[in-house]
Amino acid sequence: SVNAVAELLRSAREHRQAVGAFNVIQIEHAEAYAVAARRTGCPMVMQVSQNAAAYHGGLEPIIRACRAVAQVSEVPLAVHLDHAESRELVSQAIGLGVDSVMFDGSALPYEQNVAETAEVVAEAHAAGVMVEAELGEIGGKDGVHAPGVRTDPREAVSFVEATGVDALAVAVGSSHAMTERTAALDLELIGRLRDRLEVPLVLHGSSGVPDETLRAAVEAGMTKINISTHLNHAMTRRIRQYLQENLAVVDPRKYIGAGRDAVTEEVVRLLEVIRARRVQ
Ligand code: G3H
Ligand code: ZN
Repeated sequence: SVNAVAELLRSAREHRQAVGAFNVIQIEHAEAYAVAARRTGCPMVMQVSQNAAAYHGGLEPIIRACRAVAQVSEVPLAVHLDHAESRELVSQAIGLGVDSVMFDGSALPYEQNVAETAEVVAEAHAAGVMVEAELGEIGGKDGVHAPGVRTDPREAVSFVEATGVDALAVAVGSSHAMTERTAALDLELIGRLRDRLEVPLVLHGSSGVPDETLRAAVEAGMTKINISTHLNHAMTRRIRQYLQENLAVVDPRKYIGAGRDAVTEEVVRLLEVIRARRVQ
């Protein structure tokens, strides 16, 4: 494997366990994941999306924050660039020392997705960075949900062979940014993809997937479980409640700290649900 996070995903895949991958918007998310990692002994991926970087005016402040949190964690925490459609952003992330990048060419025509992803792999691997790619567009990022889109296993085999990616995001029924956990997954397809491909499979849009289905997806062969919206929900719900109950509060550490605790608690619970791999 190209590095430690690639090796973690590889061994999790082999044991039909999962690795949680959670999005970071503010430094408090990273801190919440570090506490959850310490409590559970589960390594995990902290991921920053192109959109989250834009919110901070660029990738650097938030990637540096994640790396600083990861550096003092005894349980491994990988820093990942999530959903980059820009090659420039990928290069920047590699320069900032991320462990892994996702190049999302899923909206491109197949041949172009292959060509661009292969170039990203060459650049990233030369720097010891792992690459996740996407084949079969998982909807919802732009508010358009298309849960019927499916990754074709034969195309996926050719794609992995042609690009040399370390992990593959596949369309199996989930959709991004769902606020209700009502998604149904194509477990039979997950099993077929798991059997035909040697790389770990990534489930995007896991916020919309109910607990029992998440567990079943891991058993069927999904390895990296990406969760973002659901944790935003947990954080915001707790902050709203805190502010309603403490009308005189002015120190942001009080309510953001309460939100951070809510994220930790929910991540600890989710790691149990997905049978996340633990460090020995
Ligand atoms: O890449 C990030 C994930 O796919 C998160 O999706 O916000 O629907 O959980 P979600
Ligand atoms: Zn995603």
